[in-house]
Amino acid sequence: MFDVSGKIGLITGGTQGIGAAIAKEFLQAGLRGIAILARTEGKGLQVVKDLNEEFGDGKAIFIQTDVADKKQFDDAFKRTIEVFKNIDIVVNNAVVDSGRNWEKYIAVNLTGPITGTFLAFENYIPKYRTGQEGVIINISSVAGLYGNAGAPHYAASKAGVIELSRSIGNDIHYNRVKVKVIAICPGYTDTPGVLVTEENYLGAPYFKAYQDRVKDLRPQPSTTVSKAVVDVIKKGRNGSVWIVMDNQPPYEVRLEINKVINM
Ligand SMILES: NC(=O)c1ccc[n+]([C@@H]2O[C@H](COP(=O)([O-])OP(=O)(O)OC[C@H]3O[C@@H](n4cnc5c(N)ncnc54)[C@H](O)[C@@H]3O)[C@@H](O)[C@H]2O)c1
Repeated sequence: MFDVSGKIGLITGGTQGIGAAIAKEFLQAGLRGIAILARTEGKGLQVVKDLNEEFGDGKAIFIQTDVADKKQFDDAFKRTIEVFKNIDIVVNNAVVDSGRNWEKYIAVNLTGPITGTFLAFENYIPKYRTGQEGVIINISSVAGLYGNAGAPHYAASKAGVIELSRSIGNDIHYNRVKVKVIAICPGYTDTPGVLVTEENYLGAPYFKAYQDRVKDLRPQPSTTVSKAVVDVIKKGRNGSVWIVMDNQPPYEVRLEINKVINM
């Protein structure tokens, strides 16, 4: 069981939606401090102000960062350590919704988590953790497991995030650095990110496929996902993949291919 109390967390895309819910959940769960990384400064400073008013001065900091920019991302880790001295938990959550520019999409939604995972795993968490172990949570999506006809490139980026997590989440790596890497796949969740228009899609057929997919679904609150994240950080095994959907507690997905090729 990983003990979250007194730990330091870093969350990308923590200014709204699921990321903002995770930030608040972390402080409620007893983390000592959190760094919120996102591109929009105004929103970020407001979120941090609200959190510090609720949980105490200095608990949260905002670092303006584009996760597609490796130097900015690296600098954000450095700043986090400057302020809090430690780093224990990293959540790669940021997502961009400008679906027509798929190069940007992949840069944020897949390259971003790869950069965040490698920086945290190979350098910052092993050097600066508070205790004996660290955790990286990569936010994927059920689209990464089952596909998404409305946004194939989104599904591709999210499938990549799962295999990134399963591969670096191999115990060969864990035994070296003692950092668990876990993927969490939310289902349809009520966030500003899902308020999309046709402009966010590759074209009308894609947007229609998205609308058909979600028309009978009721989005779960983002707090269902944030609670699941804390739960999985505590009890999830290294390399595991979890689904959190339909407003239910998270459950682990057993990908049978594990057994066939033994990774
Ligand atoms: N909402 C859903 O239905 C749903 C379902 C499955 C998975 N997810 C996943 O959950 C995560 C959060 O989704 P959401 O719906 O809360 O998103 P959202 O669009 O509401 O919020 C995205 C956050 O990412 C930040 N961001 C965007 N580009 C960035 C960049 N280049 N660098 C740093 N930060 C950047 C934004 O500022 C914002 O804080 C994503 O990984 C998403 O794929 C969401």
